[in-house]
Amino acid sequence: MGKSIMITSFKGGVGKSTISVNLAIGFAVSKYKVLIIDIDASSGSIDLFMGCESDTIYNFCDVIEGKVKIEDAVYVKKSTFNPNKKNNVSNNQNNLNNLNNSTVPNRSSESEEQLYYSVDVLKSPSSYDLTKFSDEEISDFIKKAKETYDFIIFDCPSGRFPFFDSLAKHTDYIFVITLHSAASIRSSEKMALFLSEKGNEGEKVRLIINCFNPKGISRGLNLGIVDIIERSKIKLIGLIEINNMLRDYQELGKTAYDVRTRKLRRFFDDIVGRVLESNIILSRKYDGIKTNNLYFKKEIKDTNRI
Ligand SMILES: Nc1ncnc2c1ncn2[C@@H]1O[C@H](COP(=O)(O)OP(=O)(O)OP(=O)(O)O)[C@@H](O)[C@H]1O
Ligand SMILES: [Mg+2]
Repeated sequence: MGKSIMITSFKGGVGKSTISVNLAIGFAVSKYKVLIIDIDASSGSIDLFMGCESDTIYNFCDVIEGKVKIEDAVYVKKSTFNPNKKNNVSNNQNNLNNLNNSTVPNRSSESEEQLYYSVDVLKSPSSYDLTKFSDEEISDFIKKAKETYDFIIFDCPSGRFPFFDSLAKHTDYIFVITLHSAASIRSSEKMALFLSEKGNEGEKVRLIINCFNPKGISRGLNLGIVDIIERSKIKLIGLIEINNMLRDYQELGKTAYDVRTRKLRRFFDDIVGRVLESNIILSRKYDGIKTNNLYFKKEIKDTNRI
């Protein structure tokens, strides 16, 4: 039976879609069968971020309404890398080479590893009236999807939407995304409160700090990781450092798993590993954390640590 993950935040532009796409592929390269669902009707971007605009006519609503089966509504995003071919040069390679040199990984010093993956994508409708979906319909949809997929990821629009409560209730995990800023962290705490009023709390709700900025901590501009972990009402499941390469590649429809540098994908790999219940400690030494600290180790019983 699969697991479903809702990716949400009250604030917009905090990296929900970026994280949804990269986690989906992270699970897929670990050989899990993955479905990613774009439910952001007004500004869905999954297809752009994955470089796979499709002419599929069906969307998420059509499946819920029973017009079509999930397997007939999805389109498949495969990595450009084909393990059976010798010369794997992607179509976007020229564009990548044209990027400002400072943002392109130095290939000679990077791992030559490229990863093969396949992810099913269910697109968002261009407009909808989601109020018509009942709690039962959302629950049935998730149950059905879990029969086929190991992981189902819902990339949500920011804030609440008509079936927010049902989705939160019926998914296995809710990942609340925050930027590394006091205002965004406060907004996540409000989200946690709101979710707990609806019965979603404990292990189910996790925090991901996106655009984490270690230099800002050293300069006294941003809250330290230890402070966030200890003050947060939501258990942390991972962080993703701010990295302009991630944004630049995304503009070309490339994810952290489509480029040769491992630097971009290690944060997503860590989160995937933690969902799969491995012991994965913070891979870097941040201010206030010594390499032998046990943050993110499962044995820690402390409420704010995994
Ligand atoms: N760790 C990161 N480092 C640098 N840029 C990032 C990072 N994460 C996301 N971005 C950039 O931030 C922008 C917003 O990201 P994204 O679209 O994923 O946010 P969102 O929360 O899905 O937005 P919306 O609320 O509109 O759906 C994008 O340009 C993306 O490339
Ligand atoms: Mg988005």
